[in-house]
Amino acid sequence: MSRLDVFIARMTSQRACLNFAAQATGALKGPVFELGLGNGRTYHHLKEIIRTRDIYVFERAVASHPDSTPPDDRLILGDVNDTLPAALARFGATATLVHADLGGHNLEKNDAFARTISPLVEPMLAHGGMMVSSDRMYFDSLTEIPLPEGAVPGRCFIYRRD
Ligand SMILES: C[S@@+](CC[C@H](N)C(=O)[O-])C[C@H]1O[C@@H](n2cnc3c(N)ncnc32)[C@H](O)[C@@H]1O
Repeated sequence: MSRLDVFIARMTSQRACLNFAAQATGALKGPVFELGLGNGRTYHHLKEIIRTRDIYVFERAVASHPDSTPPDDRLILGDVNDTLPAALARFGATATLVHADLGGHNLEKNDAFARTISPLVEPMLAHGGMMVSSDRMYFDSLTEIPLPEGAVPGRCFIYRRD
């Protein structure tokens, strides 16, 4: 698989999984958390497909496209190792959808980071809430669910609190 193929598979999978999870959690009330703003493409997509829930973005350094930059009161600035525990204290277990795309090109580093943040994300999800992640997560109490049509196995993962 070329790097272009890998990139396309990642983008296609993100869109398929976000569309699926946004719809599956659509009846729930509670915030949506975007972990890792980057250029802001997936944040922009979430804004397009989720109109009735607040979307908070976690990012350590904002460098997004101007169209895809959250307002100050929806931005949670800092390292997620610090801001996720603070958000749990602030919001409780109310997140209806968490999307994480925090990794870079080093797969070993991404996996180690996913192991570190899994226990920070796990208690944030409301019942019925879902997490979409670009990396495999390590949860005790969330169920991994099958990917929707159009998503490429290994490029995206979906978990749900039953
Ligand atoms: C791959 S980019 C996200 C791309 C985004 N999904 C998009 O569609 O444009 C990853 C982002 O995660 C952020 N990030 C990585 N580690 C972080 C950490 N420990 N705390 C907060 N943000 C972090 C990086 O600064 C970067 O902006």
